[in-house]
Amino acid sequence: MGDSLTKKIIKSHFVKGSMKPGQDVFIKVDQTLTHDINAVMTYLAFEQIGLKRARTEISVSNLDHNLLYIDNKTPDDHIYLRTAAEKYGVYVSRPGNGICHTIHCSRFAVPGKVLMGGDSHTPSSGAVGMLSIGVGGMDVATAMTGIPMRLTMPEIVKVNLKGHLQPGVNAKDVVLEMLRRVGIKGGLGKVYEYVGEGAATLSVPERMTITNMGAEMGATSSIFPADETVKKFMEAEDRGDKYVEMLPDPDADYDAEMDIDLSSLQPLIALPNQPDNVIPMSELKEHPTVAQVFMGSCTNGSYSDFAKAALVLKDHHVDENVQCTAGIASRQIYKQLMKDGYLDMLIDAGVRILELSCGPCCAIGQVPPTNGIAVRTSNRNFLGRAGSRNCSIYLVSPESAAATAIKGTFATAEDILGTDVDILATVHEPAHYFVDDSMLIAPLPEEEAEKVEVVKGPNIQYLPIPEKPAEHLLCKVSLKGGDNISTDDITPAGAEFSSMRSNIPLMSKYCYNRYDPEFSERAREMGKSIIVAGENYGQGSSREHAAINPMYLGVKCVIAKSIARIHKGNLINHGIVPMLFEDPADYEKIELGDELEILHFLEEIPTRRVTVTDKTKKFSFTAKLDLSDAQIEVVLAGGQLRYLKQELVKEGILEAEA
Ligand code: F3S
Repeated sequence: MGDSLTKKIIKSHFVKGSMKPGQDVFIKVDQTLTHDINAVMTYLAFEQIGLKRARTEISVSNLDHNLLYIDNKTPDDHIYLRTAAEKYGVYVSRPGNGICHTIHCSRFAVPGKVLMGGDSHTPSSGAVGMLSIGVGGMDVATAMTGIPMRLTMPEIVKVNLKGHLQPGVNAKDVVLEMLRRVGIKGGLGKVYEYVGEGAATLSVPERMTITNMGAEMGATSSIFPADETVKKFMEAEDRGDKYVEMLPDPDADYDAEMDIDLSSLQPLIALPNQPDNVIPMSELKEHPTVAQVFMGSCTNGSYSDFAKAALVLKDHHVDENVQCTAGIASRQIYKQLMKDGYLDMLIDAGVRILELSCGPCCAIGQVPPTNGIAVRTSNRNFLGRAGSRNCSIYLVSPESAAATAIKGTFATAEDILGTDVDILATVHEPAHYFVDDSMLIAPLPEEEAEKVEVVKGPNIQYLPIPEKPAEHLLCKVSLKGGDNISTDDITPAGAEFSSMRSNIPLMSKYCYNRYDPEFSERAREMGKSIIVAGENYGQGSSREHAAINPMYLGVKCVIAKSIARIHKGNLINHGIVPMLFEDPADYEKIELGDELEILHFLEEIPTRRVTVTDKTKKFSFTAKLDLSDAQIEVVLAGGQLRYLKQELVKEGILEAEA
């Protein structure tokens, strides 16, 4: 049997380990990306590691998420990130250039290469046949050292696409259909490889929408072949010389298969508060007043997305009760929309054009009104994601979002255009984009980079280093959480909170701020503590502050029914031991404030079974460590930074500290 595309890429980057699903495999990483609201800790970690320069082929620092300078913190962060990038040989995508995933896929991605990015939607670059994986910031710092990165060898699922999308149906509906079928945990430990005659009909930006939201299924990554469509896209980006055909073998062996008939799809909608809560829009029973419509983001901010939305809005106006905003994904898309007249159509219809940044997607502006309904083309609708826990977020395609903005309630493109909906099929990606890299700053030559002074404003504090686990742990439960706690719940999004992420002592005061406002003070008073949670703990964004802040507040372990992949990695990296209930029924017996004891922690960690006694309720239970050998080593070392330094000395990349 032949190889899938994913397997081919892993094979070509293989260093050691096993390529059996579920086992550790160590691979070479070619490229990394970071973005402003997570990256300060990444570069502080890289600084602490002590290497002079990133050892990847390409590393990019994107200043794209928080462009709302409400005080000195974010501009200070941007100056730090720019100077750190200059020092360490990293590209900078300046504020206003566009959203990291769109920039990466269009300007840096190369078929067959491996990208690790400090953002959960990094798989977007899978659209051009690059294996692109979202990880925590400490992992990006590790990848930048050039040492092989650990990956749990994924199962590879063939998604066979047939037919073609009907006008008014968007690639967003394909990925919402995937979410409807497999759910928010369905992709755990998997790479979805989209192939077939239907895949060939999708443009690269459409493929990006699909690979982007594989993150919402918990997938390790999603990927499309690098075929003729990718070749044309890269030529349109003046990067045809970087194109390499990358296809699965015709007789490729997959771990599982599924089929989607694109022709049969209709407009779908994800209801609050999970992206897999998906139904056809035709089945919506109620049509309440919508307060906000947001089009754009890294999921649906492409040229075709906005051109189609503009055609729906043409000769109409946004309803007077709706605030409709557009977050176009890059400068080159913006210019193309302007040239082709689509920007005029959007503005004439009353759409408010925002900065070319993430903005509302991570609650940086456009928080909905009290109890308001927001309809968005972005990728997450968790409670609180929009900056308020009393609003409701619905996820749809740009065509449906535009129709909703006109009607003031849920609607599809067909509701507005009727049989003229076919006009949407006339929109195609440009044969040549406005390529302009003047907002990218290339790495300095080494000798000049060495002279750069990294500028740290007063908000940029140190990276806290965790303690090694103790042999005897006796502490209280500081939080008893439910299912699906997201990293947004742990570390709230929004302009105000995002600007605090370089200052852990300050940010940690707001840990769990919207979920349990007393948590921070409680954990601080307890000194050390354990978090207990239900299923899918730490889902959503890759932000490692959701591990660093609890660690700073003294949290030693998380015991949950299940833990999301990226967050589990972040917990390990930052010295919090992630454990699972062997018997989920034990979760019910534990309450906030219970005193838990682990007597022989260091001995039991390598056995992957730890006996925990609830001294308050007087019972004992077993917690499992679902960790590989390599992860156990990091846990015992007291986190990734301590571990990595040992490894770099062993490899001869770093000198031993005196
Ligand atoms: Fe930005 Fe939202 Fe994408 S925060 S990177 S637009 S998921």
